[in-house]
Amino acid sequence: MLVTKPTNAALGAVVEGVDLTEGIDSETFEEINLALLKHEVLFFHNQPMKPEVHAQLANMFGEPQYHEAYPHVDGFSQITVLENDKDNPSKIEQWHTDMTFRPCPPLGSILHGAIMPETGGDTMFASMSAAFDGLSEPMKAFLDGLTAIHDFSFGFKESLAEPGGKARLAEMVRDNPPVEHPVIRTHPLSGKKGLFVNSLFTVAIKGLKEKESRVLLDFLFEHAVQDEYVYQFSWQNDSIAIWDNRITQHKPVNDYWPQHRRMQRITIDGDAPF
Ligand SMILES: [Fe+2]
Repeated sequence: MLVTKPTNAALGAVVEGVDLTEGIDSETFEEINLALLKHEVLFFHNQPMKPEVHAQLANMFGEPQYHEAYPHVDGFSQITVLENDKDNPSKIEQWHTDMTFRPCPPLGSILHGAIMPETGGDTMFASMSAAFDGLSEPMKAFLDGLTAIHDFSFGFKESLAEPGGKARLAEMVRDNPPVEHPVIRTHPLSGKKGLFVNSLFTVAIKGLKEKESRVLLDFLFEHAVQDEYVYQFSWQNDSIAIWDNRITQHKPVNDYWPQHRRMQRITIDGDAPF
């Protein structure tokens, strides 16, 4: 029997009473998916999930993304390996929703904490439905119907500025021209409304003057990740996090280097926001 224990008021639940390691049936998947729609991010502990089981679970949510060019688990190009140790420092990352520079940003990700540091290395998640709900009615009405521009080149400006960065990322830049998304997104399954701008990729709000857009975005970025909308998850070895990228933001806490941390991630394709 699957039990969900909410982690805090805005979002998140720890799921107990389910063993993911042997694969799950469609009934259990439905329960997990319903819990995800409600809580927006789910956590599981003690799940030493093998790559093939990780892949099967992802397939139940949708089509996984394949990243041949990134480090991945042998034989599983959909399982990206995110690994940091003393020779490979972790980078500071800011709050974001994954890949909103795409016309169809991911539905979500399933992240397996394979090797976790003794201390630190948490991940913060913020509820964009709570952030929307926390706005005044006139502000909600003003934002609803507005469109924002999201840009890969803006999000990766530091990587592009590195030596050889332009050449390395030339194909990504070419394949990812700026895209437009609604500022307020409706979740396709739950119907919840969520704030859908993030400081990593959102560069402007269409139709506003530059200064208006800047001030409004800066307000929204700060508003979106205030304490009452955020939960900070502490990983153990073999914890799993599943987040709904359609209605959350996240930020890894970069406080564990030079300790070793290895995460294995599958990202699932999503729909065009509306
Ligand atoms: Fe991310």
